[in-house]
Amino acid sequence: MACRTAILISGSGTNLQAFIDAVAAGNLDLDLCVVFSNKPDAYGLQRAAKAGIPTICIEHGDFESREAFDRAVIAELDRFEPELLVLAGFMRILSSGFVEHYEGKILNIHPALLPKYPGLDTHQRALDAGDEWHGSTVHFVTEELDGGPRILAGRLRIHPGESADELQTRVQAVEHRIYPAAAGLVGSGRVVFRDGDAIIDGKSAAEPVLKTYD
Ligand code: GAR
Repeated sequence: MACRTAILISGSGTNLQAFIDAVAAGNLDLDLCVVFSNKPDAYGLQRAAKAGIPTICIEHGDFESREAFDRAVIAELDRFEPELLVLAGFMRILSSGFVEHYEGKILNIHPALLPKYPGLDTHQRALDAGDEWHGSTVHFVTEELDGGPRILAGRLRIHPGESADELQTRVQAVEHRIYPAAAGLVGSGRVVFRDGDAIIDGKSAAEPVLKTYD
């Protein structure tokens, strides 16, 4: 049976769309059981509805604390019995209670070649540093922001004179390839989280699988 997967978004949801398209094309064996947003106007909610996926929206501003909001999210998500949570542009820091509740079952994609550039403005930071390579990384979520064990990274060469917006567009195209692929590996059990490490095909992975794109 396909792995029951919840996708959490806050915005446009182009990564969500990549999952929807990959499942529809028969290239990804996940059961996309629910899409959650903390923003009612997130366009990704419309993408989910169009694909016939149930949606939930809870606004964090309605809660007194991060913990209270996260408890409400857990209660709603757990009605769908997800086995995997995919953070796809979900712009919230998770409480330790949330991470513990879904330990080893949460994936995130971060638009940088981690451990470089955790946090925001990754594309501009890579340009400012004069980096040769930039990209995006899929990793398991732990309590350390953008710091959990890495699974798969996609890199591309920075073009001379390229703007941050241009770079972001190219990096997002890479994300749409690596994120469904990485989630598929987790969903099928080829990649697991054990004792704080990513285990890929039975081996503890100090470095993520690295793919290079144009
Ligand atoms: C993606 O590029 C993702 O890497 C980034 O948000 C974007 C969401 O785009 N995530 C982060 O910055 C998390 N730290 P999308 O809504 O079009 O999928």
